[in-house]
Amino acid sequence: MKILMVCLGNICRSPMADGLMRKKVKDHNLDTYVDSAGTANYHAGGAPDTRMTQTAKRKGVDISELKARQFVVSDFDTFDLIYVMDQSNYNNVIRLSRNESDRNKVQLILELLPNQDEIEVPDPYYGGQDGFEHVYDLLDKCTDIILNNLRHE
Ligand code: 4NP
Repeated sequence: MKILMVCLGNICRSPMADGLMRKKVKDHNLDTYVDSAGTANYHAGGAPDTRMTQTAKRKGVDISELKARQFVVSDFDTFDLIYVMDQSNYNNVIRLSRNESDRNKVQLILELLPNQDEIEVPDPYYGGQDGFEHVYDLLDKCTDIILNNLRHE
């Protein structure tokens, strides 16, 4: 199984989802490949935002080695599941899809959570520390559900 996490810049939300998921599959010895990408190329080659890295570190997740890259059409071939953080990411990824099989791989990550009012992981980039904590909490819950799904396949 190969899972891709996608946001806009690939420096805040998707690296956090990526780091959490990598840690969980490693802790459970699962043969799952995890990566992340951004729909934009603004930060390609760069490290995650230090505010996200610090939040992750306090929770015991190391995302400091991740490097941003832009989503590419061949990701539809490489990955089985593509989780996007918000509706704009969804639209940007779907725009690049070539067929129904590509489109069926793409899901808003918060749709995994039952009884969830929000459908978008809010972009924390222009906000304060609370935003990063909130992103962590949401993605911790989502990656728990993905992990459970992988373990019961
Ligand atoms: P991300 O956050 O999509 O969660 O990585 C953002 C990072 C950078 C920008 C926007 C969102 N930016 O405009 O540079």
